[in-house]
Formats: sequence, C-alpha cells, structure tokens
Amino acid sequence: MDRIRIRGGRPLEGRVPIGGAKNAALPLMAASLLTDEPVTLANLPHLADISTMANLLARNGVEMGMNGDMPDGHTGRVVSLQARDAADRTAPYDLVRRMRASVLVLGPLLARYGEARVSLPGGCAIGTRPVDLHLQSLQELGVEVEIEGGYIHARAPRGLKGATVIFPFVSVGATENLLMAAALADGETVLQNAAREPEVGDLARCLQGMGADIEGIDSPTLRVRGVGSLRGTRHDVIVDRIETGTYLIATAVTRGHVLLENARLDLTAALVKALDEAGVTITETDAGVLVDARDRRLTGVDVMTEPYPGFPTDMQAQFMALMATTGGASMITETIFENRFMHVPELRRMGADVTVHGASAIVRGVERLSGAPVMATDLRASVSLILAGLAAHGTTEVNRVYHLDRGYERLEDKLAQCGADIERVKE
Ligand code: UD1
Repeated sequence: MDRIRIRGGRPLEGRVPIGGAKNAALPLMAASLLTDEPVTLANLPHLADISTMANLLARNGVEMGMNGDMPDGHTGRVVSLQARDAADRTAPYDLVRRMRASVLVLGPLLARYGEARVSLPGGCAIGTRPVDLHLQSLQELGVEVEIEGGYIHARAPRGLKGATVIFPFVSVGATENLLMAAALADGETVLQNAAREPEVGDLARCLQGMGADIEGIDSPTLRVRGVGSLRGTRHDVIVDRIETGTYLIATAVTRGHVLLENARLDLTAALVKALDEAGVTITETDAGVLVDARDRRLTGVDVMTEPYPGFPTDMQAQFMALMATTGGASMITETIFENRFMHVPELRRMGADVTVHGASAIVRGVERLSGAPVMATDLRASVSLILAGLAAHGTTEVNRVYHLDRGYERLEDKLAQCGADIERVKE
C-alpha cells in the first residue's frame, strides 16, 4: 500500500488549480441513466470514486467516451455518458461497500426502468450512515421496497407518482435521489427541507438542461413537475469547494501564500469567515483566490458543522489540523456525522492537544506539531494528517492513502509545486 512522506515546516508559495467537485460529479454521472441520449460532462475530476461510479454505470448499460483531457492536461476531463437499455439494474455490494454514493443510481434506475437492486451500504468509518431516508421518501413516490439478502429491491411497477416529501433532516444524497426520480415522475413533487449544498444545485441545473422542470434551485423547497422523457445535454461540473477549502487550510497551516485558480469563494463562505477570524487574509482576484498567512500568529476559532450554507462537515478534520497550530483554543462541534473524530488520536500522535467531549473537540494550539507515522481512516481525515504533516517539524508518514485518491487529484504534485517536501512511497 502506498504511503505519503512529508518533511514539514515549509510555507507553501505558488499556485494550485482547483478541479471539478467529486460530490457534484457522482450524482451528475448517475443522472445520465435518465435518458438514452448522451450526457456530456466537462471538468470531471480524475479520482478513484469517479472510476468506481463509471464501473457501476457500465454495468447499468452506460457507454462512456473520453473526449480527451482539457488543453492544460490537468484540470478536468470531458466524458460522454450514454445509457442504453440496461439489462442489469443492480448496484452490487462490492461497489457500494467501496463507495456509498453508489446508492445514487437508485432514483434514476427507478425512474427510467421502474426497478433497481442496490446493496445496502453497511457501516463505514464515519458512522452508520443509513439510507432509510432515501427509501422512505421514494416510497412516498409510490416505490415498493423490499430488503432481501442485503439488497434493497425497489420497484415502481405503475411508475413514479409525484408527491410532497418533507425530509425530517437534511440529506444531500436523499435530496439528489429524489430530484432525479421526480424528474420523470407523473405529476408534481415538492421536496421540503431539501439539501441546499451547491452540488445539489449543480445536479438540478444539469437536469434542467436535460429538459426537467425544476423550481426553487438552491432553496430548501424544490418543486419538480415530472416530464415524459429527458434528453442529452452538456454540463460543466461545478468547482470543488472542499478541495478549495483544503488548499486554503494547507496555505494557512504552513503560513504560506498561494493563489487558488478556478476557486469560488461564494461556495465556501462559512470556512472563509472562520479563517478570516483566525487571522488569514483571503481575497478574490481576477486570477483566482489569494490566500496569505505569511508571518501570522493565528488565533483559535470555534466552529460547528451544519448543512450548507453552514460550516461543512467535510472540512472539519482539516480545520482541526489548523486549529492545532494556532496560539489559542478552539471548540469544534460535529453535528452531521457521529464518529467523525477518527483523526483525533492520529493528530494527538503528532503532538496536537485535542480533547473530545461527545460531539465536540477542544483544540488547544501548540507551539509545534511533530512528524510521526500516522494512519488514514477516511478521506477527509487522511488529508487532515497531510496538512498537519506540512506544518510539523520532522517527517510524517501517512499510511493507507488510498482514501486520499478517492477525493484528491494529484494532491502531492499540487503541494510539491508550491514548495512542499512531499512524496508518494510506493510499495
Ligand atoms: C454527502 C457527501 C459527503 C458529505 C455529506 C454531508 C456526496 C457523494 N457525499 O454524503 O461528502 O459529508 O453529504 O455534507 O455528496 N442519513 C440518514 N439516513 C439517510 C441518509 C442520511 O440517517 O437515509 C444521515 C447520515 O448518516 C448523516 C446525515 O444524515 O448523519 C447527512 O448525510 P447525507 O447528507 O445524506 O450525506 P451523503 O449524501 O451520504
């Protein structure tokens, strides 16, 4: 298994290109199942999760054509997806286990073919993460659900019927599944307490391009009038706000100075506010977002994760790595996932002073973190260890980096280009 070795203590200085959002690309790819015409996605990131989704869709009858890299060879790809009739409407255990977002084929398969078999995801490192909400809300559209042999067998023999769905809490995946199902349902569907994450808006806009009738995009109430069929479209995947945030923090944690190309500050306002309070200067320029933390003594800031537009749970681990290096204390509260402090024991091994009380972690900044061998447990936890390693004295080795490859494209190259001493050790 590959490891990443970092010799820390160098301020980052340079430019980083930010790619298309993984969490937008996955549902957009699944949406290609809704039509037999080609859906062309540009700015698709090159990541392990995207390959997993491509494998799953191939099983479900989707033919994919790579239209080549973008001119600079780095920042994204153009891929065409065309869903021919699928004999196999299954998302098998092997793929769902590897990537929970596989469950996003449920809504479109049901809408297009009236049936789907999707493995139950089971547990994962950051909590139980059930799919009960996806199933309950699809049932309101007339879907019959049976659980058998570890699989969800969902059927809509008489087609999907529009309905009002009130989500009891915000779920990104359930909102996306319902949006895709409702696009081809008979009549109007109203989704209340819908997720407002920018990736949901990106999906809704792509569905509009395919001919869907959707109102209320980016608001908590989505109104979808079902149409008889959808057509192909071309869509640019929205920029990755979590990759953006990760490099904002990489710059801050090393007290560096970096330009983030293609980044959009409006998608990451809660994090920018917290970083501004901590003492980092972030400005939007014509060339991108400029982050300046040179010679700063940063202070501790409290944050609490919340659905968008609140502070993202996917930035919590990275923010903790930064808070570990400030001159103050910070309380970080996780409200979205239980068990999402898996990075804490590893950060402590690097000298961080963190105490967890229930859903909150108290982080007291230390003068210096020190390099250590550490173990990645999930995607965002592993990148937080990389960030801590960039700031630490000495050498850090992060093991099990396959988690990183699920969500960060060429991470070590992008950091090395800004002067980090980082390398991948292959075994
Ligand atoms: C998506 C993101 C993930 C991010 C998360 C929250 C993708 C591919 N992944 O995941 O990176 O961390 O949003 O912003 O976009 N829940 C249930 N029952 C359900 C569905 C969810 O109890 O049926 C719970 C989850 O366990 C979690 C909370 O609801 O505690 C929010 O999860 P959800 O928004 O659904 O996350 P995902 O869509 O899986």
